[in-house]
Amino acid sequence: MPFYDLNGKVALVTGAARGIGFETARQAHLRGASVAVVDLDPEQAGEAAERIGPRAIGIAADVTDDAAVKRAVAETVERFGGLDVAVANAGIVQPSIATVRGIGTEEWERVFEVDMLGVWRTARAALPQIVARRGHVVLVSSAYAFVNGAVNSPYAAAKAGVESLGRSLRAELMPLGASAGVAYFGFIDTELVREALERPHSGRAQRHFPGFIRRRIAPDEAAAAVVRGIEERAPRIFAPKWWRYVSALRGILNPLLDRYIERDPDWAGLVEEVETAADEEGAAAVASAGD
Ligand code: NAI
Repeated sequence: MPFYDLNGKVALVTGAARGIGFETARQAHLRGASVAVVDLDPEQAGEAAERIGPRAIGIAADVTDDAAVKRAVAETVERFGGLDVAVANAGIVQPSIATVRGIGTEEWERVFEVDMLGVWRTARAALPQIVARRGHVVLVSSAYAFVNGAVNSPYAAAKAGVESLGRSLRAELMPLGASAGVAYFGFIDTELVREALERPHSGRAQRHFPGFIRRRIAPDEAAAAVVRGIEERAPRIFAPKWWRYVSALRGILNPLLDRYIERDPDWAGLVEEVETAADEEGAAAVASAGD
């Protein structure tokens, strides 16, 4: 695949006020791209754009709001004359780990709204420009696309959906001279992961991952992988890199790992602990509503 030079291109990155998105926008700008920093809060998006440099603008948009995402694309095109690259990166985790049985409906659907449908809306809104300018779309997924998502099911279901959407999109764009790729991250040291690890019961859930998996890499390393992936129009981007091999072996590893979890007494204990906590919280909420 010929090198896709970011110099002179226009990139839009969602969830770019901080974390991996911010670093991706910053590094794309360093390569000579103009960047639209899209995030929830207008001030934070604006401040991030200011820190990035002169060819960056901040735009407020919630990726759960289709009209807002379309406006963000339109504003980018108006300001920079077009759009070549979209990075659908905005994402959240659920506030507490919970089972499918115990999680609140709204909580489950909110994560799916942002992490799956937000990516779909971003990609879809950008497509007319991406196709016209033979550009590239990065859809941010996670190793959770193929790792068992027990007690984190909305996140894992969304990330698996993003992977599937990205593969479909790539096959549809390649004949048109444009492209798409899926980014899979392991543990990256950002607010999202720090908040996720502070949730009750997370420590016990984490014990089921070997130590080397939990080692966090810096967001600039993950962003460097994304920028390289754009320049190579890569179908898959992995950070840390070794997740590539876990993904390649998933057909063999997943049934073995799923079976291990099913039989692990400590895992059964965790599920009980999480569900008891959810029941107690539910009972407390009912009691306080009756006060
Ligand atoms: P972060 O929490 O540091 O940054 C996420 C950004 O997205 C924030 O600025 C937030 O305001 C924004 N955002 C959240 N909801 C939004 C919405 N509805 N509309 C617009 N913007 C919204 O998170 P991080 O770690 O930089 O994550 C970026 C992406 O990478 C996410 O999709 C996440 O799921 C994914 N990822 C991160 C991993 C990690 O270890 N940090 C691992 C695997 C995937």
